[in-house]
Amino acid sequence: MRLRLIACLALTAGLAAGGAARAENDQSIEGIEKYREALRDGNPAELFEAQGEELWKKPDGPKKASLEKCDLGLGAGVVKGAYAQLPRYFKDTDRVQDAESRLLTCKEKLQGIDVGPIIKAPFGSHEKDDMNALVTYISGQSKGMPVKVSLSHPKEKAMFNLGKRMFYYEGGPYDFACATCHGQSGARIRLQELPALATTKGAPVGWTSWPAYRVSAGQMWGMQWRLADCFRQQRFPEPNYTSDATIALSMFMSALSKDAKMDTPGIKR
Ligand code: HEC
Repeated sequence: MRLRLIACLALTAGLAAGGAARAENDQSIEGIEKYREALRDGNPAELFEAQGEELWKKPDGPKKASLEKCDLGLGAGVVKGAYAQLPRYFKDTDRVQDAESRLLTCKEKLQGIDVGPIIKAPFGSHEKDDMNALVTYISGQSKGMPVKVSLSHPKEKAMFNLGKRMFYYEGGPYDFACATCHGQSGARIRLQELPALATTKGAPVGWTSWPAYRVSAGQMWGMQWRLADCFRQQRFPEPNYTSDATIALSMFMSALSKDAKMDTPGIKR
């Protein structure tokens, strides 16, 4: 386990070991923290929130309808507070859905859009950028609200259990699990401190701050993109966008984040 962690740190980080490098890292982390602080009031994510709101209200698709009647779990058209209670079970689809997956349902049903191409489009394409802007807007409408994810429906409970199993499931060429890199607090890769995501203390650090603006990439990432990139780091095949595997992991992290306050959109390295 320890060896594997070291291997994983070395592999993904490419950081030189040794005191000097570490001191430099500490300084860089401090620098990033200061930068984050400075940006807090003018997080570029706000632009994406505004863009997402526009997309939400804009008539689109063969049915020329907007998404304003989309039911994100709190009733048709209710955006305020909805993200803090996702993922959740939806009766009409008989599925547990996260924000992205639910948005696709609404695009299909309300706007008559074929969502296949959106699912297949690579991250960074305009299809996915629109999705990221939409979830940024939706999550921003839950800012400051406590996470309230229910596990009362059997399918919600099953999703949580699947997410937990996946978190500890080792595989791929290096036998990595999510837990390999996110199983203990204090770990660090590429100047990013990694929270212990399977704990009620660490999970909210990750869960409540995404979607987030990534300063290094100049991109807005929703949780689906975050997870896809971690599958890559795990040397796993890329999961299908909004597949149950991704929703299960979100269910696991969000349920562990119960009562923590949503702090979206976040800002990250
Ligand atoms: C090989 C190491 C590695 C593995 C395995 C890995 N991740 Fe990550 N993860 C990272 C790194 C590094 C970051 C920090 C983001 C960055 O700078 O790229 C991160 C960030 C995250 C974050 C955001 C944390 C925060 O502070 O905002 C979440 C959530 C996350 N990972 C979930 C997962 C899940 C779920 C899995 C399993 C499917 C997983 N990761 C597997 C390396 C890994």
